[in-house]
Amino acid sequence: MLNAADTVLKTELPLPFVARGKVRDIYQMGEDKLLIVTTDRLSAFDVVMPNPIPNKGKVLTQISVFWLGLFSKIVPNHLISTDIRQMDLSSEVLQKYGAMLEGRTMLVKKAKPFPVECIVRGYVTGSGWKDYQKTGAICGHVLPANLKQCEKLVKPIFTPSTKAEVGHDENISREQAAKMIGKDAAQKLEELSIKIYQTGADYAEAKGILIADTKFEFGVMNGEIILIDEIMSPDSSRFWPKDKYETGHDQPSFDKQIVRNYLSGLDWNKQPPAPELPQHIVDQTSRAYCEAYERLVGKVIG
Ligand SMILES: Nc1ncnc2c1ncn2[C@@H]1O[C@H](COP(=O)(O)OP(=O)(O)OP(=O)(O)O)[C@@H](O)[C@H]1O
Ligand SMILES: [Mg+2]
Repeated sequence: MLNAADTVLKTELPLPFVARGKVRDIYQMGEDKLLIVTTDRLSAFDVVMPNPIPNKGKVLTQISVFWLGLFSKIVPNHLISTDIRQMDLSSEVLQKYGAMLEGRTMLVKKAKPFPVECIVRGYVTGSGWKDYQKTGAICGHVLPANLKQCEKLVKPIFTPSTKAEVGHDENISREQAAKMIGKDAAQKLEELSIKIYQTGADYAEAKGILIADTKFEFGVMNGEIILIDEIMSPDSSRFWPKDKYETGHDQPSFDKQIVRNYLSGLDWNKQPPAPELPQHIVDQTSRAYCEAYERLVGKVIG
């Protein structure tokens, strides 16, 4: 197990800075590339925790890389390299930051992202369960009556949302998505999203993980649609252990549940700053991320 000295909460590389998300630090590389560094930050209830989670950045990066290999026959993607020696970094940067960047960094093609998040749901849960209870449908997909909470859908559904610059993303109908990005593009993204999800979910299920839903992002590069961002990670999806699956109630998840449960027992109003997490919660969470990786990929994170 790594200790806190091996974790990365924030990077400050001497490169043109693009953005700091809740989890990733992004830098510009030349005209048309990005360096995406996945830190060990964890957010829960949309607030970033003060403690880093050992190995989380590496797990998220390696899971994305693993899926990109599996999906490369279905859709082209943004990945150029995960080898820090192949990223055109100066020898100074490599010397000073190489050890920190190793395993958590991707050099990618910079695309023009579509302003919609491509969500695919294979099970009725989360906001989908709430919509279904109210309306019998999820984002315009009318579903059979009497579905139970967390029940598997006969076929996965595409439920896009806006990509809000600030605040929460908003669910939209497929018609609204078509208005925003054009009918052909919307249809293509739906087709690709369902196909990738199905391929990944089938693979994961055989390894004991149910991927209940996930969010993909696509962009355009030289006129071609490519898959960008993180791919089917425990952060962008719901990972459920298959051996504990049971309909009728919420499922335990592989990763953030430990932190969410801990935080829910506190008197914290879910506004920043978040409270410090105790060591045993950090350790359990780190183990959960590593286990998801190990089950899926069949290798120990290194
Ligand atoms: N190849 C790419 N080209 C252009 N933009 C990309 C590419 N890959 C990912 N991105 C963008 O980079 C960002 C990823 O950063 P990150 O996940 O940290 O932030 P976020 O998802 O916007 O916000 P947060 O995680 O804080 O909710 C996303 O906005 C995504 O659209
Ligand atoms: Mg993100």
